Amino acid sequence: MNSAHPITIPGKLVRRLRTAQRVVVLTGAGISAESGIPTFRDAMTGLWARFRPEELATPEAFQRNPKLVWDWYTWRRKRAEEAEPNAGHRALVDLEARAPEFVLVTQNVDGLHARAGSRRVVELHGNIMRTKCFDCDRLAHDWQQSEEVPPRCVHCGGMLRPDVVWFGEVLPDHAMEEAMRVAGQCEVFLSVGTSTVVEPAASLPFTALRGGACVVEVNPNATPLTLCAEFVLTGSAASVLPQLVAMAFPAAK
Ligand code: OAD
Repeated sequence: MNSAHPITIPGKLVRRLRTAQRVVVLTGAGISAESGIPTFRDAMTGLWARFRPEELATPEAFQRNPKLVWDWYTWRRKRAEEAEPNAGHRALVDLEARAPEFVLVTQNVDGLHARAGSRRVVELHGNIMRTKCFDCDRLAHDWQQSEEVPPRCVHCGGMLRPDVVWFGEVLPDHAMEEAMRVAGQCEVFLSVGTSTVVEPAASLPFTALRGGACVVEVNPNATPLTLCAEFVLTGSAASVLPQLVAMAFPAAK
């Protein structure tokens, strides 16, 4: 996708966003693609190409081969640490500053929204920068890489793991409740860079639709939401979001 060419953003959408009291944004791996972090389903490049995410991001995979899963997340965490927020992340910071009420719900675990300056962020799938104990669930703040891989919990001796949601695990308490509540009450819902296939996050845009919101999709490709969205902006987040926010709030540079 060549982000040099501005896309056409309907004036009706610009006015809806400019006058909305409550704005909710859902993001997926696509918003971090232009920061160099592969989207979830093509994260399996190079060394990891021979695995499917479902084979690594599960408690069973971790119990079967804790070192392999720990090493994969060490690789992903390093990719996230080396990445920088892009213009799409920054546009959402501008939008948060201008919308009277704003909530950013993300499926991403890379921490880039917070690093860009977003404040009201609901992390549905956890955060790869946080580490916790597989057994006692306590967060591990100052763990060190050690000969033993994965490192051990200082409280109970259990294996440490990333504080992210794995397939088959429940989402963090209250995160989904809050996400569903705000999605059902907002006036404009932007769905950005998600394939809209992984539940329960994939239900959020449809909850917004049922609540009467103006639902907008930002994605270079079609998803199950595309035919239901009121506006579909076919392009990359780093190109579309800055244009949309600048048109809705000209002063927000
Ligand atoms: P996916 O990899 O499933 O989808 C990424 C989406 O981003 C696709 O629809 C792409 O078309 C789109 N995309 C790619 N480049 C883009 C760009 N520059 N700008 C905008 N969109 C772009 O990632 P997610 O939908 O986030 O869950 O995946 C959802 C969940 O599935 C992940 O959170 C993860 C995975 O299982 C867990 O790990 C629990």
